[in-house]
Amino acid sequence: MLEIKNLHANINGKEILKGVDLTIRDGEIHALMGTNGAGKSTLSKVIVGDPSYEVTEGSIIFDGHDLLAMKPEERANAGIFMSFQQPIEIPGVSMANFLKAAVNAKRKYQGLDPMKASDFLSMMREKRKLVSMDSKLVNRSVNEGFSGGERKRNEIFQMAMLEPTFCILDETDSGLDVDALRIVAEGFNKLRKPETSAIIITHYQRLLDYITPDTVHVLLDGRIVKTGGPELAKQIEDNGFDWIKEEQ
Ligand SMILES: Nc1ncnc2c1ncn2[C@@H]1O[C@H](COP(=O)(O)OP(=O)(O)O)[C@@H](O)[C@H]1O
Ligand SMILES: [Mg+2]
Repeated sequence: MLEIKNLHANINGKEILKGVDLTIRDGEIHALMGTNGAGKSTLSKVIVGDPSYEVTEGSIIFDGHDLLAMKPEERANAGIFMSFQQPIEIPGVSMANFLKAAVNAKRKYQGLDPMKASDFLSMMREKRKLVSMDSKLVNRSVNEGFSGGERKRNEIFQMAMLEPTFCILDETDSGLDVDALRIVAEGFNKLRKPETSAIIITHYQRLLDYITPDTVHVLLDGRIVKTGGPELAKQIEDNGFDWIKEEQ
């Protein structure tokens, strides 16, 4: 479903991604690990279409479409969802209104009419229960004043509402205590459909105890330098990245 070939990308004229190749089929979960500054968040942002990054070479095909030719909102409407390492705050816009706009934009893309207000409200209620999210959060401005745990739960709630087919979780586990981590992981697992695929960026094995990856990749200095099964994440937790660098 997602096929990345020889991807090179710059920010402010500095090359960060130096030839990434990655294929993720329907239903697969891929973990992405690597040292700080290796380019993991850059790769996620290029996939969602962040305009600060310039792609200089390579291609990304998503469900048969040239993803790089699509606008960020078209990519979201096509089913790509990213949970941010540092989620944005949108003062003055409630979660409810933000999600209504997002859900209806996606429906429009699919050729459907906007949702009726009453249907939207019942959908929100149902999904909110699914991820044990407090109703008060839904009426607050997007992410404004949310605690770390609330932001994460909110991201899972957004995922529940938008029903993406491709999810990127960028260090969704950072700063989470064990209970919050479990809520996020269980929420993700509950929402996941057989065809949902994901890239999970993490520094820790512990998230991968809850969400078992099919494949683990190591990204160092803008390239995927090693790929393995779930055991690779355990090796990295025990031994760090130096042994992989030495293999290069
Ligand atoms: N706005 C920017 N201008 C210049 N360099 C940047 C900018 N944003 C990120 N970088 C650099 O890009 C590299 C990759 O960053 P990032 O993708 O966030 O790494 P990771 O997520 O793997 O820790 C880092 O060296 C970082 O300093
Ligand atoms: Mg990062």
